[in-house]
Amino acid sequence: MGKYNVAIAGATGVVGQKMIEVLEESNIAVDNFYPMASSRSAGKKVEFRGKEYTVEELNEHSFDKDIDFALFSAGGGTSKKFAPIAAKNNVVVIDNSSQWRMDEEVPLVVPEVNPKDALKTKGIIANPNCSTIQAMVVLKPLHDAYKIKRVIYSTYQAVAGSGIKGIKDLEEGVKGGKNEFYPVQIAYNCLPHIDDFTENGYTKEELKMVNETHKILGDYDIKVTATTVRVPVFVGHSESINLEFEKPFDVDEARELLKNAPGVIVKDDISVLEYPTVLDAAGNDEVYVGRIRRDFSVESGMNLWCVGDNIRKGAASNTVQIAEYLIKENFFGKEN
Ligand code: A2P
Repeated sequence: MGKYNVAIAGATGVVGQKMIEVLEESNIAVDNFYPMASSRSAGKKVEFRGKEYTVEELNEHSFDKDIDFALFSAGGGTSKKFAPIAAKNNVVVIDNSSQWRMDEEVPLVVPEVNPKDALKTKGIIANPNCSTIQAMVVLKPLHDAYKIKRVIYSTYQAVAGSGIKGIKDLEEGVKGGKNEFYPVQIAYNCLPHIDDFTENGYTKEELKMVNETHKILGDYDIKVTATTVRVPVFVGHSESINLEFEKPFDVDEARELLKNAPGVIVKDDISVLEYPTVLDAAGNDEVYVGRIRRDFSVESGMNLWCVGDNIRKGAASNTVQIAEYLIKENFFGKEN
């Protein structure tokens, strides 16, 4: 197995720190490790596999050195500016921001769903939106079996998805403090507002779920709509997903399909009050599914509930899994 030179852009953020942790847990042999962030953090120390590293400022020259791949989670503007510079220097960028996701030249990848798309990269690979990732892992096997006609997503998303600022607002809010990041109190509340509103009345988060579902499943005929809601949970997104299929299905068979699907854990036995919650998913890379049941209001419909750790599978772990896949496929040409 080859050894890899790896950079993490945004290494001091919530997702960046988790990227370090997940990379540490992985089997990827790392030779040189470069944590990067803004000038505010330059000089700070981070630990990786028992060794201390100094955070460097991300700048135009950060990728002049020999780096195989860089995991980016430093915001859209930063990715817009620095991902092309890295790619030009032969660094494969796996980018967690929304900047490149809908670019036709950029693969948008969930390793359990469309891994081969990653191999078509011209230097940048996009990591999908956190809510989309966990939904895709569950929807792919159902789409393959019954062909999805329509999806209605309703999400319940944790504050960690907003980074350190979101976590702080909830921590302070439950103590009676004021919000600094969210426009409305998040403690003891639910906000039907994630990312900016667009002219059509939907938020960008909702449109990400619509557009990314099409691109990842490679099927633009699926009708998709979404309502995304921020809830006072620290880590882990929950989603209620309503599906309409072209083909008939059997609930027990669908449950079996999901049990055998990669990255999915079915926790679904209401006779013993068993259903998944974010506390099951937190700290794990699997997406948990339960409440799988028929929607009697349409010909072939299903309702289900799925939960995932938005910082791990919804962000950091998915990027590391993409890197693992590239390594497995000898994309970097280093394997023996
Ligand atoms: P820094 O800590 O130096 O501000 P979060 O979303 O959890 O707040 O994390 C955002 C991450 O992106 C942090 O690591 C932050 O670094 C980094 N970041 C933000 N803006 C820039 C920038 N202009 N250049 C490099 N890194 C940035």
